[in-house]
Amino acid sequence: MAKITYVHLSGAVTVIDVPPNNSVMRGAVLNGVDGIVGECGGGAMCGTCHVYVDESCGVALPPMRDVEDELLYGTASPRRANSRLSCQLKADELEGLVVHLPEKQV
Ligand code: FES
Repeated sequence: MAKITYVHLSGAVTVIDVPPNNSVMRGAVLNGVDGIVGECGGGAMCGTCHVYVDESCGVALPPMRDVEDELLYGTASPRRANSRLSCQLKADELEGLVVHLPEKQV
């Protein structure tokens, strides 16, 4: 289990203990977190799992693969320096991660 915090646009916060072997995207979808769609199921093909990582949480992220980097240029909400695709983030390795949900995913 890894505790992941999802911050909604309203400022509301959802904290989820994501079961092992799941991505940050999957943890949200399994628990009905609005604001993460995950249309392609985690295949790095849709960009609807876009999140803004809260860098103040101090959790080190894995490097971004090329496919994620390219897809982030086509997301529905603007890419920022802290943008990531949550399907590419393994929750097990990211205990304490805080992500902010973008304005829209599609
Ligand atoms: S779920 Fe489709 S790119 Fe992440």
